[in-house]
Amino acid sequence: MPALLTAGATWAVLPAASQTRAPPPPAGLLDFSPGEQAQIQAHGPWPPAAREDASNRVAKQTTVAQWGASLFFDPRLSGNGQLACATCHQPARAFQDGLPTAVGRLDGQRNTPSLLDSAQARWLGWGGSHDSLWAASLTPLLTEGEMHQTLRSLGDRMRGTPELADGYQAAFQQALPTDDATLVVDVAKALAAYQATLVSPRTPFDDFRDALARGDTAAAANYPLTAQRGLRLFIGEGRCTVCHAGPRFTNGEFADIGMPFFVPGGVDAGRYRGLQQLLQSDYNRLGRFNDAGAQDPRAVGTRHVILEPRHFGEFRVPGLRQLSETAPYMHNGSLGRIEDVVQHYAELNEERLHADGERILRALHLNDSQAADLAAFLRSLSR
Ligand code: HEC
Ligand code: HEC
Repeated sequence: MPALLTAGATWAVLPAASQTRAPPPPAGLLDFSPGEQAQIQAHGPWPPAAREDASNRVAKQTTVAQWGASLFFDPRLSGNGQLACATCHQPARAFQDGLPTAVGRLDGQRNTPSLLDSAQARWLGWGGSHDSLWAASLTPLLTEGEMHQTLRSLGDRMRGTPELADGYQAAFQQALPTDDATLVVDVAKALAAYQATLVSPRTPFDDFRDALARGDTAAAANYPLTAQRGLRLFIGEGRCTVCHAGPRFTNGEFADIGMPFFVPGGVDAGRYRGLQQLLQSDYNRLGRFNDAGAQDPRAVGTRHVILEPRHFGEFRVPGLRQLSETAPYMHNGSLGRIEDVVQHYAELNEERLHADGERILRALHLNDSQAADLAAFLRSLSR
């Protein structure tokens, strides 16, 4: 990263011939160390390169994505004709619904995740029950409490609704498959092709990161000091980057951060249940609907997952982009504001955590201004 080294050199390294100290950063810019700068660079660039998904042969076909967009808003895909994907994944709310838990969901009492940047995700769902965007789009179609169809009823709906049948033929350039599962999987793949186009916008953080990379300290100083201090906490003492890593601010894996997982009538087993569902599914990357078959490099991950007791109560590490638009937070929507999340990490109950989480997480005991800084940084990840 030569650009980064140059950026550091402009104000962190002594000019060789001079006895004077390095020029201080301009007012309004913290003196981030080279190590901190490297960590900051690792949260970009944004937007990232599109992630290939060979398991979906139509993933990059524009006409299919356009048809997928119309399906996403079409309540005719649901059993009662009243619910569309967009009912819960609303474009004006970063493709979630603003509710603690989705109305009508019977299984996990889960918060509706934003669909922005979901094409970058390796595992989908709070418990990682899916290994592709199209499989995660198929399940709601067939889930009671969501779109409430069966393969048969949705196959019949597609064939019996001329506009939907014509749309399929125009997009896929072929007649409707006679096999219901093949047809419904294609519908899910079209929905996935559309969702893969949903990329979150650049944010004040991205402008700051890129300004540092260019060595443009004047532009970098436009990023509020409170957000800079929060960023320093995030990558430093807070150890947030251990899990919220990379351009999307997630390592894509699962952890227990001490959120309660009791739900009315039982527990939400999180990753434990998610892995069981993934491995039992006919629609995972090891199954016959993977368009890349055995050649799919991403099938390896699914082949090698092992169900272990520690997965119980682990949930997927969410990305943090557009966070300001996606309240309430956590798998169960139990924290209403960004400040509540900061408070959670500040006062963690360390004894409650699994052995795994314990080593990374510890109560941060932030004072008020540190908590405000961390919240300001988290807000700067939204536009
Ligand atoms: C009743 C509200 C509701 C409807 C309708 C709905 N979803 Fe969802 N969606 C959810 C909830 C809740 C989750 C989280 C599920 C979980 O973690 O088990 C979710 C998860 C997802 C995910 C995984 C996202 C991620 O980042 O892990 C995708 C993809 C998705 N939905 C696509 C769709 C599509 C496509 C449709 C329409 C066919 C749809 N959803 C309909 C509520 C809904
Ligand atoms: C051990 C891994 C780990 C570490 C370290 C970690 N997080 Fe998290 N974070 C998670 C997981 C897992 C969730 C989701 C938990 C759930 O839903 O039960 C989460 C959820 C969140 C959310 C809510 C996002 C949403 O859309 O619901 C925010 C905000 C957040 N973390 C910020 C932070 C901050 C700030 C730090 C540092 C103080 C931090 N995290 C440290 C794993 C981690």
